[in-house]
Amino acid sequence: MGEPQTVEAGPVQVGTVEAWAWELIHTAEAERKLNPDEPPEGFEETPVARRPAAPSRPWPLRARARAEKSPRPGALLRPESRARLMHLFLHHELQAAEIFAWALLAFPDAPAAFRRGLLGICRDELRHARMYRGQVERLGARWGDFEVRDWFWERFAACRTPLEFVALMGLGFEGGNLDHGALWAERLRAAGDEEAARCVDAVGEDEVEHVAFARRWFERFAGGFDFDRWRAALPPPLTPSVLRGRPIASAARARAGLDEDFIARLEAWEPPGSGC
Ligand SMILES: [Fe+2]
Ligand SMILES: [Fe+2]
Repeated sequence: MGEPQTVEAGPVQVGTVEAWAWELIHTAEAERKLNPDEPPEGFEETPVARRPAAPSRPWPLRARARAEKSPRPGALLRPESRARLMHLFLHHELQAAEIFAWALLAFPDAPAAFRRGLLGICRDELRHARMYRGQVERLGARWGDFEVRDWFWERFAACRTPLEFVALMGLGFEGGNLDHGALWAERLRAAGDEEAARCVDAVGEDEVEHVAFARRWFERFAGGFDFDRWRAALPPPLTPSVLRGRPIASAARARAGLDEDFIARLEAWEPPGSGC
C-alpha cells in the first residue's frame, strides 16, 4: 500500500468512524463535543490521511494565550480553586479525546486493531471529561467558567507515524499523567475533597490501560521497547523531562508494563546541557 494522501479537510465518508472522529474535532456544540452519539461500526474503505490542525471549541470556552497554572496545593481548601483544577483536567481529557480522534484520521493505514483501540480510548477520554465536568458542577462552577489553552493540540502536528504517536501520547503524556494524577489525588485528599480525589483515582486506573496499550503497540511498531527507543521516537522538541511528574508513580507505571530499567532511566534522565 502506498503513502496515504494527506489532505487538510474532508470530505469524509458519511456513516464511518472517520466521519464520527471528524465531527468530534469540528463540532462547536458543547453536548455533541462531550457526549456524542455512538460511533458507527465501519471505517472508510479508501485510506485518506487527514490532519486537522486545530479543534473547534464550543461556546463558552475562551482560549487563553498562556498556559493555565495549576492552583497551589494550599489553595485547594477553596472550592473555587478545586473547581478550577477540575476544569483544567476536563480540558486535558477533552483534548486527549480529540487527539485520539485526530490519530484515527491521521493514520488510516495503521492496523485495524490499533485503530479500534484508538477509538475505545477516545471514548474513555470523553467519559473522563464528563466525569470532571460533574466535579466542576458539584463545586459550584460550570464548563466554560475558566479560560483554557489547547496545549496538547499544539504538540501533535509533529507526529508523523503511529510509532511517534504512541511514544508521545500514550507513553509520554498519559504516562506523565499517572505521576501527576497520583500527586493531585493526594493533594485533594489532604484538602478534604474525597470525591474529587476518587474521580482522579478512577481516571488514573483507566490511564494505566491506555499506557499499556501504547507500550504494546510501540513494541509492535518498533520491533522492541526500551527507554532509548522511546526517547528516539519522541518528535522534537519534546523530551522526557516534560513527560514525567515528580515523584514518578512507579507502581502504576509498572502495572502499565514499564519495566524497572525504563522507570529508573526516566527518573534519572536530565536533558543534555541541563544544569542551568
Ligand atoms: Fe483520560
Ligand atoms: Fe488516556
